[in-house]
Amino acid sequence: MDYPLRQAGLVHQKNEMPNSDAFDPQLRLDARSGLPEDWRFLLADYPRETWTAHTNLGEHTRFWLSIHRYFRITGVQLASRGDDYREGRISSHEFRTAIAPRLQQFLETLDHHHRIEDHVFFPKFMAADRRFVKGIELLEADHSIVDAEVHQMINTANDLLRTPADDGETLKRVGMAFAGSSDRIVKLLGRHLDDEEEIVVPLMLDRGEGELMGG
Ligand SMILES: [Fe+2]
Ligand SMILES: [Fe+2]
Repeated sequence: MDYPLRQAGLVHQKNEMPNSDAFDPQLRLDARSGLPEDWRFLLADYPRETWTAHTNLGEHTRFWLSIHRYFRITGVQLASRGDDYREGRISSHEFRTAIAPRLQQFLETLDHHHRIEDHVFFPKFMAADRRFVKGIELLEADHSIVDAEVHQMINTANDLLRTPADDGETLKRVGMAFAGSSDRIVKLLGRHLDDEEEIVVPLMLDRGEGELMGG
């Protein structure tokens, strides 16, 4: 079995990331229910239901959206295995076998994705139109919040993976902690991905990938 799980690059350790305390507390990822209208001002011209058929939807954006889809699906699968374990439908052995390889891939893909966004995509979007700066900075702050929860999730997963199979009481306690962390990740990521897409995709469609990405 591939464990302990390795910490990915941990974007939240970077000093230069915007601090989420710099924003209205109601806009924090774990508090908001969406972005202010004027931060997603292109969405009215490019509503979500028109994205997939739009002629300006290029390969970069399609791939990026497919990675978001992977995060949503895998996050729900992990949380679902957590529920199965919490409610006694699978054994601790089945739970460990189900989560370890999938979680490692999920964490590494998420870390890589955040790095590309922070260092490649987001600077280009902010340079394209200064009206996006506030929204993009909030998305960067979201990454810090997600990564802090990821850190927590790795610790609880490793506790679970290291606990001897005959220590039922500890297994139950750490299994519950992991399942709780999975639930929080699904919620945080769901909000972040929806908001990020509502800023980024309309901009991509409006400008076209060639102009925006310099390719
Ligand atoms: Fe992101
Ligand atoms: Fe993203």
